[in-house]
Amino acid sequence: MASMTEKEMKFLLKSQQGELNAMLMYKAFADKLGDTNDAATFRKLAAEEGHHAAVFHKLTNKVLKPKNTTALLLPLLYKILGKKRLYKLIAQGEYAAIDKYKQIIDRFPEVKSVMNDEKRHGDTIMGLIE
Ligand SMILES: [Fe+2]
Repeated sequence: MASMTEKEMKFLLKSQQGELNAMLMYKAFADKLGDTNDAATFRKLAAEEGHHAAVFHKLTNKVLKPKNTTALLLPLLYKILGKKRLYKLIAQGEYAAIDKYKQIIDRFPEVKSVMNDEKRHGDTIMGLIE
């Protein structure tokens, strides 16, 4: 691979941080949901976001710390918006990541599996809406 540009490194680091934060965010949300099917699903998604962060870590070779600034966000939005609207919003976020990662898969083919996972995540979350 040709040496990475500063812009590419920035993109990868931002993605790595975003995946780490998403991991914590889903974990915190799962804890709030208690012992439910939805909680189990979000716990699984959290683990996969952690795996995504590891994919980016391999590319950046930089250790980042997850930030839990959004840990309270989903429980709060759950109260305000209700489950259906919140889950649609979360799914939209997952689908938005597809277009984001699409920009770099030619340069970093490793990201393709991450991109495919985000699509599946969006579908999974939509599937939780009865
Ligand atoms: Fe992800």
